[in-house]
Amino acid sequence: MRIIEKNSYEEMSELCAGIIGAQVLMKPDCVLGLATGSSPIGTYACLAEQCAKGLLDFSQVQTVNLDEYCGLPGDNPQSYRYFMDTQLFNKINIEKENTHLPDGCAADMQAECLRYEKLVAGLGVDLQLLGIGHNGHIGFNEPAEDFPVIVHSVKLAESTIQANSRLFDRVEDVPTQAVTMGIGTIMKAKKILLIAGPDKAEIVERAMRGAVTPQVPASVLQLHPDVTVILSKA
Ligand code: GLP
Repeated sequence: MRIIEKNSYEEMSELCAGIIGAQVLMKPDCVLGLATGSSPIGTYACLAEQCAKGLLDFSQVQTVNLDEYCGLPGDNPQSYRYFMDTQLFNKINIEKENTHLPDGCAADMQAECLRYEKLVAGLGVDLQLLGIGHNGHIGFNEPAEDFPVIVHSVKLAESTIQANSRLFDRVEDVPTQAVTMGIGTIMKAKKILLIAGPDKAEIVERAMRGAVTPQVPASVLQLHPDVTVILSKA
């Protein structure tokens, strides 16, 4: 595991975008695993800028996102589909049909989980970007008794609902369920890139240097052969 410390959010974002950009340059038809949250917003802005300058071409790239809230359609500004469209996809030359997220509004959620698991496995993720929750969650894999292996629907931890409520008008508006890649789905990615700000220093330390336990889901990354962690100190 490579751990790189940067002085600011901007520097972290530039390096992260540089690594993703290098992946796209080396393999123009690569599959990128993407994440939501405030951590990757700067990275997506850098990627959009490089694409606008003609330095990156996303026309053959496919993307798969980690997760989606249940019950929010893609045109709801709080949905992760909306986030991805507005923060990245609408600003780069990617084909919309090559951008994939789980459908949090599917009538048959079990069938949707299987569909998404097969889709991600079939595409094969070259580089997976991750943020981390304060409780160590990756995607929406919350602390649990076991590592959930495949795509599944999950009841969000109270702390996650509280943390994510900053983006909603009222805490009651935050969905209580989500659908997420499992830990096994994430671990199949060839390379993993995790970014985190200083507010995550404690949980990152536990995840990277503590015991590997489903109580700290990100700790499983210690078992992956190719993980880069970029931390910002401010
Ligand atoms: C959400 C997402 C995670 C993300 C986490 C941290 O719960 N499901 O994928 O990593 O938030 O978000 P932030 O980067 O805003 O701290």
